[in-house]
Amino acid sequence: MEFSLDACTEEYKGRFLAHYDELKWLYCELYENRMDAFNDLCDRMYRYYQQRRESLRELDQQRMEHPDWYRGNQLLGMMMYVDAFAGDLEGVRKQLDYIEECNVNYIHLMPLLDAPEEKNDGGYAVSDFRKVKPDLGTMEDLERLAEECHHRGISLCLDFVMNHTSEEHEWARKARKGDPTYQGYYYFYEDDTIPKEYERTVPQVFPTTAPGNFTWLADAGKYVMTTFYPYQWDLDYGNPAVLNEMMDNVLNLINQGIDIIRIDAVPYIWKQLGTDCRNLPQVHTIVRIMRMICEIVCPGVLLLGEVVMAPDKVVPYFGTVEKPECHMLYNVTTMATTWNCVATKDIRLLKQQMDIVSRLPKEYVFLNYLRCHDDIGWGLDYPWLEQLGLEEVSHKKYLNDFFLGQYPGSFARGELYNSDPTSGDARLCGTTASLCGIEKALYEHKADDLEKAIRLDVMLHAYMLVQSGIPVIYSGDEIGQENDYSYHEDPKKCEDSRYLHRGKFPWDLAEKRTEKGSVQERLFAKICRLEQIRRLHSVFESDAAVWTVDTWDNSVLGIIRAKDDEKLVALFNFSDTERTAWIKEEDGMYTDLISAKKLPAIDVKLPGYGVYWLLKN
Ligand code: GLC
Repeated sequence: MEFSLDACTEEYKGRFLAHYDELKWLYCELYENRMDAFNDLCDRMYRYYQQRRESLRELDQQRMEHPDWYRGNQLLGMMMYVDAFAGDLEGVRKQLDYIEECNVNYIHLMPLLDAPEEKNDGGYAVSDFRKVKPDLGTMEDLERLAEECHHRGISLCLDFVMNHTSEEHEWARKARKGDPTYQGYYYFYEDDTIPKEYERTVPQVFPTTAPGNFTWLADAGKYVMTTFYPYQWDLDYGNPAVLNEMMDNVLNLINQGIDIIRIDAVPYIWKQLGTDCRNLPQVHTIVRIMRMICEIVCPGVLLLGEVVMAPDKVVPYFGTVEKPECHMLYNVTTMATTWNCVATKDIRLLKQQMDIVSRLPKEYVFLNYLRCHDDIGWGLDYPWLEQLGLEEVSHKKYLNDFFLGQYPGSFARGELYNSDPTSGDARLCGTTASLCGIEKALYEHKADDLEKAIRLDVMLHAYMLVQSGIPVIYSGDEIGQENDYSYHEDPKKCEDSRYLHRGKFPWDLAEKRTEKGSVQERLFAKICRLEQIRRLHSVFESDAAVWTVDTWDNSVLGIIRAKDDEKLVALFNFSDTERTAWIKEEDGMYTDLISAKKLPAIDVKLPGYGVYWLLKN
């Protein structure tokens, strides 16, 4: 039956009609005029709008009136695994004071929906989208946490793992038993003819830990597509029932009080034979459809796209200013490039990366971070590096050797991830503190090295905080949490080195954050101060003008931000020795916001790993 607006509220009608033509057009184009399916989607959308709590609708209203609410300089995020941070959801709720002490008002809780005990890819193999993993709590706990967060002005971000389900999901179980309806939810094949065809053009995500893109199911006598781990079955979005059901699942989650939805692994959701099955145009159609669904049902909710791709593939996920897709995207290239600069002490690539980012429309909001729960992949601008005489494979090898601590003079302690001997490619794991040398210096009892490592760690945070967008800290980095090697002993985790930097939050060490002179205090106090300064000055808002400035020293990055009558000159020394930023901002005196020192912004000397945030008086 055709969806009718007659019974809908005026508010809903207005929002629905504003998008109706485009929504229907895109849906019908994707699914060859399946109006029955389109009407089913519309029914579901209205149902979730009706079920939305009054308090959430008020939030929608407020955010519609202030659509820039997430674009200023007020948001600061932290990401964490619920169990590692506080045991369960109730535990997180009880630790909101600590989170606030960290100046955080946006928390991203890593996947917490039901997933098998063993094969779960850190929660990214969901077996029930309607249920919280029992050891973490219940849906009611999640709702209570969301309410308390809203009460404190904290936004809550959750993952929506949409590319695949766990093999334990009800749909997958039915499919395995031979139910043709549910086999139609996945990519099932009788024999390996088509899988082989795909393998010719589709690269691998986990070449070492999960090679290949298909898994043979002996009991079902069929192949199923599994881009990630063999127990993560790819959903077939070519089937409109899959999109409708998954939209139902995400709206249900959103109505628990979630403010930001991180769409996991989104570039992979559409497959087509003969392609690399990444970033296909249909992916963008689906993200645009999701954006419109949210704007109609829950307009206060933001979409954060997880697009870990080459730079030119990332930005299209913002859509256009007129037809936006994601509200926010990870600034993944800048993140990886930052670590490149740490290893090379050469900021030229970062400068060029910042020049690209700062030319993008101010509506595009990046999520800036130093590291997350995943590995650091070396997705750098290699054609550009070639001009400096650096070649991709050998440069990646240098970076990995450096961060493994194997290069002479290296202070880092990391581990490789998915090292692929055939291509020579590998990615990297480690906490910020361990990659900065804190772990090594403490282990070797070297006070000078420790001092340097802390300076580097603080400088990197200062750099992250100076970028436009939303800074997100990985829980534990604020107190210098080190690598956790215990995963090597855990049979459920030992194959996946990402667990190296997903260790339990060390509450005993966190207590030392107020103990003058402790490592924790030396980091925590400085990072907190930077965060507070960032909030006080409009020059840190996302729509400020940003440009880089030549410092004539390849180790010193210079960034200028300007908004209203504020101008900030930020300088970062990526080398461990004293350097001079040969800049000539001859427009009067400046004050370093960090040290309160007054100085001119002319030929500024910086100590090793030094940083200045110079505000023009
Ligand atoms: C995303 C997650 C990662 C996970 C993958 C598969 O990239 O960040 O942890 O392994 O998706 O779901």
